[in-house]
Amino acid sequence: MARPELAGRPNLFSRSFNSVTAMTDLLVLYYSRHGSVANMARHIAHGIESVRDCTARLRTVPPVSAVCEACEDDIPAAGPPYASHDDLQECDGLALGSPTRFGNMAAPLKYFIDATGDLWLSGTLAGKPAAVFTSTSSQHGGQESTLLSMMLPLLHHGMIIMGLPYQEPELMTTQSGGTPYGPTHVAGPDNKLPISDHEKRLCIALGKRLALTAAMLGKGRKS
Ligand SMILES: Cc1cc2nc3c(=O)[nH]c(=O)nc-3n(C[C@H](O)[C@H](O)[C@H](O)COP(=O)(O)O)c2cc1C
Repeated sequence: MARPELAGRPNLFSRSFNSVTAMTDLLVLYYSRHGSVANMARHIAHGIESVRDCTARLRTVPPVSAVCEACEDDIPAAGPPYASHDDLQECDGLALGSPTRFGNMAAPLKYFIDATGDLWLSGTLAGKPAAVFTSTSSQHGGQESTLLSMMLPLLHHGMIIMGLPYQEPELMTTQSGGTPYGPTHVAGPDNKLPISDHEKRLCIALGKRLALTAAMLGKGRKS
């Protein structure tokens, strides 16, 4: 469904899904406060779009506060638009990203997911592939627990969870982020460490893997 309010945004942000074409559409949905997870999302989108006939749609969620429902605009001042249920309905696969918050996903993303009961009831996401990614300050600050926690609601939705196989050589050689549960980034105590080559390659690999799987599964679902 086209969103006229997004006219003028870069392609990656404004691209609408078109069920008439044979394109495979992947939703990259994330929350990021300081930019690390947003950066990972762009690399994953790059991996997705390196696969023929696959497109990435970047979406985010608003921060939560006591007044969030009262005052948040529909469209943020910068960056990708806020996700809608249509985005989830229309996608062929999902990459879900969040900063680690005490070894768990961040509240704004959880808040968005907690409002997807209608999609759970209708089984909208069942059978679609999904993967997760995160960023932390510290190397052992709960990356895997965050990724596992993000998988739980996706499993309830019936999604097919994907990780990264050890055929990706960076999984063995990385000195910072990167796990078989999904790509990760170690951002450092002040969140200023740039994404490493290994972390970046694993983001791209995840995007490709998700896109290829969504394309294969999508063909089966649509035939
Ligand atoms: C409330 C809060 C809790 C956090 N909990 C953790 C944690 O458990 N482990 C960790 O390593 N980093 C933790 N962090 C740091 C963030 O996960 C880290 O800075 C991340 O890279 C931010 O991603 P962003 O730049 O996309 O917002 C926490 C930060 C905040 C504000």
